[in-house]
Amino acid sequence: MEYILDFHKLDRDAKNLLKEAGSKIRSSFSSELSIETKADANDLVTNIDREVEQFFIKFIKSNYPNHLILGEEGFGDEITSLSGTIWMLDPIDGTMNFIHQKRNFAISLGIYHDGVGMLGYVYDVVLDELYSAQKGQGAYLNDERIPFLEATSINEAVIGMNASWVVPNEHIEHEGMIQLVKDVRGIRSYGSAALELAYVSTGRIDAYMSMRLSPWDVAGGMIIAEEVGAVSTNLSGAPLKLLGQDTFFVARNGLHNEIISKYIRLK
Ligand code: IPD
Ligand code: CA
Ligand code: CA
Repeated sequence: MEYILDFHKLDRDAKNLLKEAGSKIRSSFSSELSIETKADANDLVTNIDREVEQFFIKFIKSNYPNHLILGEEGFGDEITSLSGTIWMLDPIDGTMNFIHQKRNFAISLGIYHDGVGMLGYVYDVVLDELYSAQKGQGAYLNDERIPFLEATSINEAVIGMNASWVVPNEHIEHEGMIQLVKDVRGIRSYGSAALELAYVSTGRIDAYMSMRLSPWDVAGGMIIAEEVGAVSTNLSGAPLKLLGQDTFFVARNGLHNEIISKYIRLK
């Protein structure tokens, strides 16, 4: 069924939801968390991750009954195709930081229509910093427009990546990673893919890579990054499919090609 999307209203609703969810998360700091593991001992989930996802879903289902939800905690819809309007939500990206640090995590939300990213959000709940973008309208940090990214060189670049890729591992030839670490100015690892995408968008780091991410980790941040000229692909340089897990790489335009061609050898 065809329906007309009012992006202005969608944006307002999404921002209100994010702010309200953010204040729920901040209030949870004073109560005890219930923590469980998922795929492995370090893959964590709390009652708050679940409650926040359900809070979004309740609103979306009653206000946008034609829309679908792809949420990390599984309360949304079974998504097998990108047709229609899909809200891709990670209620807390950086759950380990949420539990251990009570900072350095974010709500990640991307709203896609027929596979095209239309509205993107990364909300740093603790700092009350909302990164947002509407396709073709530029990116914002709260009410401030984020400037378009200028080119930089490898030797002045700061790269977001996990130390696991610099030792022998099953995903990537680590010798290339060692060379990258030697050639760049610095390496950072923040533990939230969504925040790292927001940091690339604001020039705090120049690139970010991961060997395995899910659509909800990057759906919001990719839309923001694109609006400031950063390029997001998988680590082979191909577009992300957004229907399952993949490698991930975002960087300023020139840096993107250079890093993939000189340093990345996937196994
Ligand atoms: C994780 C974070 C982390 C990344 C993991 C993700 P979660 O998300 O984004 O930085 O390295 O691959 O799963 O589990 O905290 O939502
Ligand atoms: Ca995540
Ligand atoms: Ca999560």
